[in-house]
Amino acid sequence: MPLLIKNGEIITADTRYKADILVQDETITQIGLDLEMDDEDLEVIDATGKYIFPGFIDPHVHIYLPFMATFAKDNHTTGSQAALIGGTTTFIEMCCPNRNDDHWEAYNLWKSRAEGNSACDFTFHMGISKFDDTVESQLKQIVEDGISSFKVFLSYKNFFGVEDGELYQVLTLAKKLGVIVTAHCENAELVAQLQQKLLAEGKTGPEYHEKSRPVQVEAEGTNRFATFVEMTGATGYIVHLSCQAALERAMAAKSKGVPLYIESVIPHFLLDKTFAEKPDFEGAKYVMSPPLRDKSNQKHLWAALEQGFIDTVGTDHCPFDVEQKDMGRGDFTKIPNGIPAIEDRVNLLYTYGVSRGNLDIHRFVDAASTKAAKLFGLFPRKGTIAVGSDADLVIYDPNYRGTISVKTQTVNNNYNGFEGWEIDGKPEVVTVRGQVQVRDGKFVGDASRGQFLRRKPSHF
Ligand code: URP
Ligand code: ZN
Ligand code: ZN
Ligand code: ZN
Repeated sequence: MPLLIKNGEIITADTRYKADILVQDETITQIGLDLEMDDEDLEVIDATGKYIFPGFIDPHVHIYLPFMATFAKDNHTTGSQAALIGGTTTFIEMCCPNRNDDHWEAYNLWKSRAEGNSACDFTFHMGISKFDDTVESQLKQIVEDGISSFKVFLSYKNFFGVEDGELYQVLTLAKKLGVIVTAHCENAELVAQLQQKLLAEGKTGPEYHEKSRPVQVEAEGTNRFATFVEMTGATGYIVHLSCQAALERAMAAKSKGVPLYIESVIPHFLLDKTFAEKPDFEGAKYVMSPPLRDKSNQKHLWAALEQGFIDTVGTDHCPFDVEQKDMGRGDFTKIPNGIPAIEDRVNLLYTYGVSRGNLDIHRFVDAASTKAAKLFGLFPRKGTIAVGSDADLVIYDPNYRGTISVKTQTVNNNYNGFEGWEIDGKPEVVTVRGQVQVRDGKFVGDASRGQFLRRKPSHF
């Protein structure tokens, strides 16, 4: 049924104005002053005093990831509803086959888990954990099916990691196909050596996780990835960049004109390594990779985000329950890596960025929505408010005041790393292709509304 949103303030990556929005079927059909429509089925929403943002896009999500002898907790039902409550209308999940897994089968398994179970729209970055003729032909098929981004891990030797030769081959193929390659940049060998050294010294608690992957480990991985991108002419995207040392390496490449984009994730802007030092194994809740860093890095991340050197802000949503984290008692290398954030990313970035004066509101929209849409082949269908775009809209209440708590979250996870944090705003209504999925901050919609978004290579 048609939807008319009246009197809101539309805020995109580059514009800000008051106007009404008319939605018919799945798309925005009119934007203008004093719009009216004569239709008995019309729903009118009064958005006076509210902002209207384009649906937010989370470019880095793990749902039910098989990892470190367990699985990340969420499924698509809970994960997608949590995303929507937090204003995220599309997410890009990492499809992560192991080295021994058939990549085509893994891709279809991942897709089948999402299809029919997601309340928001979704697509995948195709993870590649080995490269040979079979994988190459499967990747071509996967691109044909609508995937235009790959994912490689330079870390996690025993799970998903690729060798340097494979990295070169992946980038070469990606260049040929016009596909962007996203990369987790840490030096796997250094991590393995440092882990063994620390454990041998009896240093087994979660506070040693950061010491096994110091900033040099990430700076090396970042520099290596940037070098391989430069040598192959491919386009690269660094995921979850966490620190000044890695930022410097990425910027050195960017400033030479290497086509390299940077994502940072919400935990690294707000949480620091002291959280992983909490007593009684509480620190395990904050174990992720790259690890939470010294707080001094955060001002560099905020500045780079404001200036647009950091392109996007994702979550790296990867929830494990406290009991799963417990598998690493006595050996921090066995603590499943990951922090949940899919529900809170937008509110945290709005609050500690826009509301508290660290981030321009248009850069906020760009980093949390528009830029990801552009980089990953979804723009202008997603990532903006324009006639013809999908009606993925977030009616946002900037006057809401509240706190984050595990008690009120939708994410299927028994802690929240941001417990007790204040938020200065919240989505009130969220639509996915014209259908109201969230009303008064609660999920009220169709649990299987979400569609698989087929994307075309960009030929950057
Ligand atoms: O700790 C993390 N980041 N877990 C998820 C896997 C990854 O590296 O993105
Ligand atoms: Zn990663
Ligand atoms: Zn990740
Ligand atoms: Zn501005």
